[in-house]
Amino acid sequence: MRRQVARDLGDTVPAGSSNPPSPSLKERRETEGTVRKTLLWATAVLGLALLLGACAPNATQDTLQPKGPYAQTLKDLFVPVFWVATAVFILVEGIIVWIAIRYRHRKGRDRLPAQTHGNTSREIGWTIAPALVLAGVMIPTIATIWDLARKPPDDALNVTVKGQQWWWDFEYMDEDMRTSYGDGKPIRTADVLVIPEDRVVYLSLVGGGGDVGGDPAAGDYMVIHSFWVPELAGKQDVMPGRTNHILLQADRPGVYTGQCAEFCGLQHGRMKFRVVALTQQDWEAWVENQKRPGATPSDALARRGMDLFLGQLSGGRGSCIECHTVGGTDAASKAAPELTHFADPTHECFAGCNWDTEDREALKAWLRNPDAVKLGAKMPNYHLTDEEIDALVAYLTSLR
Ligand code: CUA
Repeated sequence: MRRQVARDLGDTVPAGSSNPPSPSLKERRETEGTVRKTLLWATAVLGLALLLGACAPNATQDTLQPKGPYAQTLKDLFVPVFWVATAVFILVEGIIVWIAIRYRHRKGRDRLPAQTHGNTSREIGWTIAPALVLAGVMIPTIATIWDLARKPPDDALNVTVKGQQWWWDFEYMDEDMRTSYGDGKPIRTADVLVIPEDRVVYLSLVGGGGDVGGDPAAGDYMVIHSFWVPELAGKQDVMPGRTNHILLQADRPGVYTGQCAEFCGLQHGRMKFRVVALTQQDWEAWVENQKRPGATPSDALARRGMDLFLGQLSGGRGSCIECHTVGGTDAASKAAPELTHFADPTHECFAGCNWDTEDREALKAWLRNPDAVKLGAKMPNYHLTDEEIDALVAYLTSLR
């Protein structure tokens, strides 16, 4: 570098040349100093931004504030491992920094410091020490893995979870969770998993299967999702072609937010969901209501919406029942979210839990052009008229 600078300084600028003269050594040093300072500031600002980015006034997805025994088990492992890792970091980095300063090159020091290569006792020491640390971390880690993988108790609530593009499909598989109409299919919800408080929930996670028109190939088999409710449990992958399991439990009634934690395509970030834990009494009432078929509205507008929903839209635009289910009607396809109790007060959100079910304007926007609010969603744009949209909203919000 220095040689380059010297050569530049030695260069003479030919007379009449339009090239500016080469900067002097002093100017170069100043430029280098400015660049270094700018980089330092940029790094500091970036670091601070990242740090502040971790702040949230109401963090609902905090793994460090577990709300159930499985999440607590994970925290009980995380905290000691974190402190062990912190101690190792401080020790190792501390020694590196100390050595770098203590033995740095200085004017007048032209010999290498004493070399420790080949010091057998030291080398054995710093091989065994990390091995012991790792063994110390491994024992509780493996114990926790076994603990979390244990069989669920007999009275666990069994739910099959399907990762769809991009929403979550929940089917309640227990005998006492069958609907009272038709052939008694399992209760099914979308975007919101409803559970009783203080009871183990055993989830079977399967890769998507939006078998549109009975054709599995038209579905979403080849995408991997990850099911994650940070306050209640760890993450579990949702794989095409296999079934994974995870246990969760909420100690208290409440709403726990979850989301897909594996990049799965365009709307991965909007593949959210909620777990709603109810008191035993509320749970029983919810189950009773879920067993009923979808309501038949008496209101004229909602009736018109029901006719639209169950029939073919004029002009060959298609029909809602190609993909959706409303229990007790002809709508029975499982390719898209279950709508039987769409507006039940426990089901606060729709379309990957991004909008409140109460929000009529959001619902209208969704029906008008799903792609405009959630690009890439499989819900087609049927070019509904305002009148049709009003009627459908009236019908959907009557499904309580
Ligand atoms: Cu599903 Cu990310």
